[in-house]
Amino acid sequence: MLMKATVSGTDVRTGGIALHNLQKRYGSAMAVDEVNLSVSPGEFISLLGPSGSGKTTTLMMIAGFEMPDSGQVLLDKRDITRLPPHRRELGVIFQNYALFPHMTVAENVAYPLRMRRIARVEIEARVRRILDQVHLGAFASRYPHQMSGGQQQRVAIARALVFDPPVLLLDEPLGALDKKLREHLRNEIKTLHKEVGKTMIYVTHDQDEALAMSDRVAVMHEGRIRQVSAPKDIYCRPADLFVAGFVGEVNLIPVKLKSGIVHGPADKILPAQPWSGADRDATLCLRPEHLHLDKRLARSSGGIHGHITGMTFVGDATTLEFRSESGLQLTSKVLNVSSEAMPDVGDPCVASWAANDATILTE
Ligand SMILES: Nc1ncnc2c1ncn2[C@@H]1O[C@H](COP(=O)(O)OP(=O)(O)OP(=O)(O)O)[C@@H](O)[C@H]1O
Ligand SMILES: [Mg+2]
Repeated sequence: MLMKATVSGTDVRTGGIALHNLQKRYGSAMAVDEVNLSVSPGEFISLLGPSGSGKTTTLMMIAGFEMPDSGQVLLDKRDITRLPPHRRELGVIFQNYALFPHMTVAENVAYPLRMRRIARVEIEARVRRILDQVHLGAFASRYPHQMSGGQQQRVAIARALVFDPPVLLLDEPLGALDKKLREHLRNEIKTLHKEVGKTMIYVTHDQDEALAMSDRVAVMHEGRIRQVSAPKDIYCRPADLFVAGFVGEVNLIPVKLKSGIVHGPADKILPAQPWSGADRDATLCLRPEHLHLDKRLARSSGGIHGHITGMTFVGDATTLEFRSESGLQLTSKVLNVSSEAMPDVGDPCVASWAANDATILTE
């Protein structure tokens, strides 16, 4: 089922999507603002952002259900901006994956093929094959209301895949499901992506989901894409304060960059990579798991001295609140592997981190 097209005897994978300066306004509100994005054939990319950030609108413009005010949508370098949805041949799973309630699973999945006037024998074979692929072979004659949310969701995936589109567009497909099922189906969709090799554009407001599933993540805010990077870089090297704050927990420390050195409150020099730009105000970003609090160093002269002001047990980890002598309030997250060196509320401590774990943002 791998999507390949043959051009002059060479195999060329299909399913590349490019968005050029896409813009969409509803009344005076800018829903999508100058969005540029290039998605490679076979890539899994997530659009991640808070509610109202323009994720669905962007996806609907790719699918053809919304028309941009300006800009272009290209599929394999072909301009499809003005094509109606059914002529784009893109599989779509909507935010509420509406199945036809009066049709069986098999009839639901066969629907896109019937619309394309495929022969009956061929339809039956294809429906059987795709239902097996999403592990629903035994459910063909059931009706949607006789199935769990997760099973219905897989029917929606099968229906979007059955006509073999090069690209699958998924809008919060796991949104309505409980946490455990989400995690299970997350892995199934990932496996399916590997098996069918299709381009997938996946909309979610769940950062864990986006980081766990994607080759790359595009973070959206107020209609704009703020950063497009591999999950690890989105998390460890956020491009701006919005991305830093939206994806995971973060300590934000106001600093001054002076002669390439990072100065925190009370002019204390903080660990960070040397800065090569001009002197200015900035923010140092540090993930809680990168902040080390050591009570054994409390008597030493170096480091950032302070006290533990709070402690929360969260199962696999403990969250520690720290207040430095200069008034800096920081959060540290420690895995509960050993309780030996764990400080307690009120304990004096020294805070430290590796220079490489700090990101300096100057916006
Ligand atoms: N048909 C419409 N008419 C008017 N405004 C709209 C319409 N569709 C979307 N909007 C507005 O455009 C903005 C982007 O909406 P969109 O549905 O793309 O957000 P989203 O990122 O998908 O959010 P969610 O996570 O809540 O689904 C929002 O401010 C929304 O209110
Ligand atoms: Mg949406």
